[in-house]
Amino acid sequence: MNARTTWRVAVLPGDGIGPEVMRQAGKVLDALCAGDGPEIERVEFGWPSHAWHREHGRMAPPDYLATLGEFDAILLGALGDPGPGDDPDRFVLSDAESLAPLLEIRKHFDQWACERPCRPLPGAPRHLADPRAADIDMLVIRENSEGEYVGQGGRLAPGTPHEIATQTSVFTRRGTERIVRHAFAAARERAATRAREGRERDFGGRPSQVCLVTKRNALKHWGELYTETFAALARDYPDVATHHELVDAACMKFVTSPWAFDVVVASNLHGDILTDLAAVLNGGMGVAPSCNLNPAERGRPPMFEPTHGSAPDIAGKGLAGPTAMLLTTAMMLDWMGTEDAAAAAAGDRLRAAVAADLSEHGDERRGTDAVGDAVVHRLRAD
Ligand code: IPM
Ligand code: MN
Repeated sequence: MNARTTWRVAVLPGDGIGPEVMRQAGKVLDALCAGDGPEIERVEFGWPSHAWHREHGRMAPPDYLATLGEFDAILLGALGDPGPGDDPDRFVLSDAESLAPLLEIRKHFDQWACERPCRPLPGAPRHLADPRAADIDMLVIRENSEGEYVGQGGRLAPGTPHEIATQTSVFTRRGTERIVRHAFAAARERAATRAREGRERDFGGRPSQVCLVTKRNALKHWGELYTETFAALARDYPDVATHHELVDAACMKFVTSPWAFDVVVASNLHGDILTDLAAVLNGGMGVAPSCNLNPAERGRPPMFEPTHGSAPDIAGKGLAGPTAMLLTTAMMLDWMGTEDAAAAAAGDRLRAAVAADLSEHGDERRGTDAVGDAVVHRLRAD
């Protein structure tokens, strides 16, 4: 594949605060793409969304996945609009329906790795009192294509006293191998970056570590598949230290000693739960970025979406913090940056501008536009 230098991005603002935070991403991308910046064409769609459903009876057009397949990347704000429930005229959809496109997009493009970095920026809200919390630097890699999220199962004898609900998890050797290998490769890459930046870490004499999370004491079958695969692949990465935590203990240690982790690899559900906790360590949902990638097939579009949801309680009020969306946009630029030097530079500029903005204004109450404008202002001046 030839390296790409022009990019087409499908912009899906979605529901709730999605459109507000996405507007800020649009402004910073306009500023970054000016002059010598990367060449990015953005096409915005009104779907998937609650509003589209209200008008058309579905979250998105029937061929929406084919439409998205024509883009290099997808940038998504947030989906879902559960309330408030006290308005009888409000058009309400179940979460299962309004959030379904997220899972459909991840599945359709086989975005099997969800990466959620956790590295609190100075100025972001700090929830842990221990000063070592400033040194947290981990990457949680969530298996994003199978496991507990395959949607297999059903309800037998619904509504009767004998009702049975089944929800089957599926763990394949192929799915396990690719996510575990990806975690080891990420650990090695992070060690190389830290060495370049002069901030090496030591995990028992090795410069990086992968912690595998399972619940193998109770969920033995997939726990053993993960454990055996992890041990086998670790032999290819003698420079990477290995570690295992049960998911309940991992939750505890994310609070008591999160600075001890480097790369964490977990199943779909465990990764989902751990990354909300990791988002809080970052300073909260307002500053936690995320992406869904198919690392093996870069021709299939990845989806970049912040960890946060649509926050309907504050939607439309101009109060939502756009920092998570901006850092997610920086992750998109990083992803493009492995092929396109201009995109790589833009990602670095954006992260630096967001970091400077947070460290100067992190403790102020500012509206969505004010934060976006301040970051754009910095980008124009740098
Ligand atoms: C996330 C969200 C989704 C998930 C929901 C909305 C389906 O919680 O991206 O973490 O669990 O994957
Ligand atoms: Mn989640």
